[in-house]
Amino acid sequence: MPSPVTLKQLKLFESVARLGSYTRAAEEAHLTQPAVSIQLKHLDETLSMPLFEKVGRTFFLTEAGELLLRHARIIIEGFETLEAEIDELKGIRRGRLRISVVTTVNTFAPDLLLTFQQRYPEISIILDVANHKVLLKRLLDNDVDLVIMGRPPETLDLEIHAFLENPLVIVAHPKHRLALRKNLEPSALVEDTFIMREPGSGTRSAMERFFAEKNLNFITSMEVSGAGALKQSVQAGLGLGLMSRDAVRMELDAGLVVELDVKGLPIQRHWYLVHHKGKRLSPPAQAFKEFVLGEASVMLREKRS
Ligand code: PGA
Repeated sequence: MPSPVTLKQLKLFESVARLGSYTRAAEEAHLTQPAVSIQLKHLDETLSMPLFEKVGRTFFLTEAGELLLRHARIIIEGFETLEAEIDELKGIRRGRLRISVVTTVNTFAPDLLLTFQQRYPEISIILDVANHKVLLKRLLDNDVDLVIMGRPPETLDLEIHAFLENPLVIVAHPKHRLALRKNLEPSALVEDTFIMREPGSGTRSAMERFFAEKNLNFITSMEVSGAGALKQSVQAGLGLGLMSRDAVRMELDAGLVVELDVKGLPIQRHWYLVHHKGKRLSPPAQAFKEFVLGEASVMLREKRS
């Protein structure tokens, strides 16, 4: 007799359908790829219908798969609402909080989390770090409670709260030929090489916009993933980097990199706390939202001055 369908199988099925890959679904669930295949095989057997068909290397949902996906999403969402309501019964002191931050924010997120966790030691926090584009997808897939990132597009169904200034600057190795120059024209930089963030990075888009608005082209020496790799590459002298001052604050203070004095910089942006408009925030998520928009923004501003 086939075993009953489990919530775990539905969640794995939903991620394979969403991500289009067993491997990526396995990574997301922190499982091995064979473990995911076994669970989905059980699901196929229980429903006695194939859910996916494979054409070349690509998966497609069968009609039964499409039907199951619709119902799986309703069940998963219902279960999350149930968890949130149970957390509500327990009050904000317990429960789970899923936060995602862009790589740059990861330089100050641990400070925020430390203060929050001292206040609510029984809330368990799952922190995930990725770039702007990946986080937008997580928000739209309702895969996270709250996100801290640069400004997301207005057109999406998101609630967006600015809570802190995020100046973007150009940094260089301290021995760079322009390190001591004042009031540089942006055109003075076009002969230098820049290290570029990966596609999907909000910092990269801001850099492309800055030069495009000035009708200037820039030369890229290499591309790196994440704010940490960018600042280390600048520090090693591999090229100039345009990035959030927040990401290099310690290195600037220690004299490991310098900020170039360029007209039109810093680019004035903000950090935003974002969640899906339809998201029912659990009490821990609501408490974290209030903490970030109130006390945390004051605390971070004080640290900067
Ligand atoms: P990212 O973050 O460059 O790591 O994507 C900045 C942003 O969200 O704008």
